[in-house]
Amino acid sequence: MSKPITIASAVVASTSPQGTSLHDHFRRRQELATFDIRLPKILHPVEKEDIRLLILENISQGAVNTFRAQGFHVDHHTRAMSEDELVEVIGTYHAIGIRSKTKITAKVLKAASKLLVIGCFCIGTNQVDLDSASRAGIPVFNSPFSNSRSVAELVVSELVALSRQLFERAYELRQGIWNKKSKGCWEIRGKTLGIVGYGHIGAQLSVLAEAFGMRVLFHDVANIMPLGSARQVDSLDTLLKEADFVTLHVPELPETIEMISKRQLALMKRGSYLINNARGRVVDIPALVESLKSGHLAGAALDVFPLEPGSNGAPFDNQLNTWASELRALPNVILTPHIGGSTEEAQRMIGDEVSQALSRYLGYGSTLGAVNFPEVDLRAIAADGTQIRICHVHKNQPGVLKQVNDALSPYNVEKQYSDSKGEVAYVMADIADVSPTDMNSLRDRISGTDANILTRFLI
Ligand SMILES: NC(=O)c1ccc[n+]([C@@H]2O[C@H](COP(=O)([O-])OP(=O)(O)OC[C@H]3O[C@@H](n4cnc5c(N)ncnc54)[C@H](O)[C@@H]3O)[C@@H](O)[C@H]2O)c1
Repeated sequence: MSKPITIASAVVASTSPQGTSLHDHFRRRQELATFDIRLPKILHPVEKEDIRLLILENISQGAVNTFRAQGFHVDHHTRAMSEDELVEVIGTYHAIGIRSKTKITAKVLKAASKLLVIGCFCIGTNQVDLDSASRAGIPVFNSPFSNSRSVAELVVSELVALSRQLFERAYELRQGIWNKKSKGCWEIRGKTLGIVGYGHIGAQLSVLAEAFGMRVLFHDVANIMPLGSARQVDSLDTLLKEADFVTLHVPELPETIEMISKRQLALMKRGSYLINNARGRVVDIPALVESLKSGHLAGAALDVFPLEPGSNGAPFDNQLNTWASELRALPNVILTPHIGGSTEEAQRMIGDEVSQALSRYLGYGSTLGAVNFPEVDLRAIAADGTQIRICHVHKNQPGVLKQVNDALSPYNVEKQYSDSKGEVAYVMADIADVSPTDMNSLRDRISGTDANILTRFLI
């Protein structure tokens, strides 16, 4: 018998204030907030089968505990699985949680006859064949922004470390050389930080930098409300000419590849610094090496590279990137192995975010945040509600909604929402007063339509 699912952070059903005056309205709102919130109904699948999760690659124990607390059966392994191993076992699982090493290929998906959802407990989703997953009706969730703060804090440390030549001094002293000097070393207070890309990371950084007394300028393709006293400038060139530190926080897109090259470096102030924690190909590194060698730039910090070693211990050398040894030999250049987002806090947040997304999909059908799927959600059913929830994934072709709505027409459709993405569409509907016998025939009718990929009823 399947057990009910409890979601850690409860979805609260919306309620309507009932009062005659504004005063009543606020009093009523306060009462509702403290005593009378209508709790959401905890839904579970109609199928009388335990939900089984396969959790690989040492995903946080917290996430595993959360799943177990919700009544799921969890098999937890610290290692990744090969394609063959997965093909062997995947057929018994309803959900899988992975990091970047386990590849979910088309072959694995073909063997995954019960799989409902994939959770990537990391930032990227390249390890999953996303198109095959969506065609199989399987949404994929990840956690793209849980490490934004970690990256922003690393940049703050690099601002100070570059302007104080911290790595040079520390390295010299480890070699037994005492070299106390202040020439060419600066406070960051009062200096101008130029942020390129004012998204999750750029905006966090903006606040931190102002707390250090920096003046913040930013450039973004979108018009964005500045935080604090930051100012958006009209072009990248303006930012490059004005900033003492330029830090990059844009995604890798055709238009951002080598967006910092010879011309842009020449526009930067003499004695300024460049920081790249975004993506390796955003900077033309041979041009950067030239600029540093000529003394035009006073230093740089790079956390990301066009080609990065595949595993810890693998060499970072000229075979990987032809300029590696030249870059490594330059003074006041901080090189780090893509650790911007690598903190315990970020890992914990990834665990929380992805496990909640999986639980919300399994328990409530919500695909908000899925990377390969139409994003659909419905307001929660109240605890005393008798509705059933229909989750119908289907091919994105004409006439499907008519067929579904014909099937639903004898009942009261309390709410319904649908959306499509590429070849796949998804409709969710909450239906009132469906008897158990009707429910079975309704399910057979909807799942029997030509375009059906997956139909689940939650009660
Ligand atoms: N070093 C690490 O470990 C690490 C960790 C997390 C993220 N990242 C990388 O950091 C980058 C930024 O991440 P985020 O979470 O802030 O992304 P985000 O999507 O929240 O923000 C990116 C911003 O860049 C802007 N942008 C896009 N194209 C632009 C262009 N041509 N010029 C100017 N602005 C442009 C967008 O409008 C958006 O505001 C991404 O490349 C991400 O992969 C690196």
